[in-house]
Amino acid sequence: MHRDATPRRYLMCPPTHFRVTYSINPWMDPAKPVDLRLALTQWEDLRDRYRGLGHTVELLEPRDDLPDMVYAANGATVIEGRVLGARFAFPERTAEAEVHRDWFRAHGFADVREPDHVNEGEGDFAVTASYILAGRGFRSSPLSHPEAQEFFGRPVIGLDLIDPRYYHLDTALCVLDEAAGEVMYYPGAFSPGSRAVLARLFPDALIASEADAAALGLNAVSDGRHVLLPQAAVGLFEPLRKRGFEPIGMDLDELLKGGGSVKCCTQELRP
Ligand code: ARG
Repeated sequence: MHRDATPRRYLMCPPTHFRVTYSINPWMDPAKPVDLRLALTQWEDLRDRYRGLGHTVELLEPRDDLPDMVYAANGATVIEGRVLGARFAFPERTAEAEVHRDWFRAHGFADVREPDHVNEGEGDFAVTASYILAGRGFRSSPLSHPEAQEFFGRPVIGLDLIDPRYYHLDTALCVLDEAAGEVMYYPGAFSPGSRAVLARLFPDALIASEADAAALGLNAVSDGRHVLLPQAAVGLFEPLRKRGFEPIGMDLDELLKGGGSVKCCTQELRP
């Protein structure tokens, strides 16, 4: 099957002030040293890879008091140019939401909503042409789901996350092709009912193994053809190729120490 990439616009934030000094997910261990220079190089590789593929990368100014800002996906959700801001679950990240909203206002986005309920942006919202898939259980409030549905006018499918290692939807599921509604996911991250919902909506989904999920292989970004994903998720490469995708392995190991990889570092600005 032939796959076409479509040009994307992404928002990223360099890990200039990245560090792990608190722990708000099981991946974060403040006792483990982070190599900041290496984190920067790995992040620059990802940014340059997007640009090399013809995508636009916008940059958010990092702030010294917000070490998790590199995980830019959490700061908002943008569909058809409308921006649903984030509201973070933990005080350590609260101030990031406003930095994002300010960026959108300064860059010509007219419709920017400050949300009433906790939602961690694209960490828990995944977008297909028909639906918004929405995670809950660890971060985003179930009340953020009707809020997103009302704001975007798209049906929201709530999915219950049950494994603390997969605390955001984007650690357990990745949209490979929005138009076709093609996804890959790790069933073990979801409640039995949510697994049944996913099986019903996406009978042809690529199912990830536990090992590939544990390498954060689902924290991936697809442009419709190229799928950028953690290179350690070796089991996903062949199944992706069989479907006509071109997997591109990235090394973001330093950022894994904060509990994120490719997708967490990438917010998509959907026109
Ligand atoms: N340390 C960050 C947190 O726990 C990592 C966020 C990862 N981002 C993501 N989109 N899953 O909030």
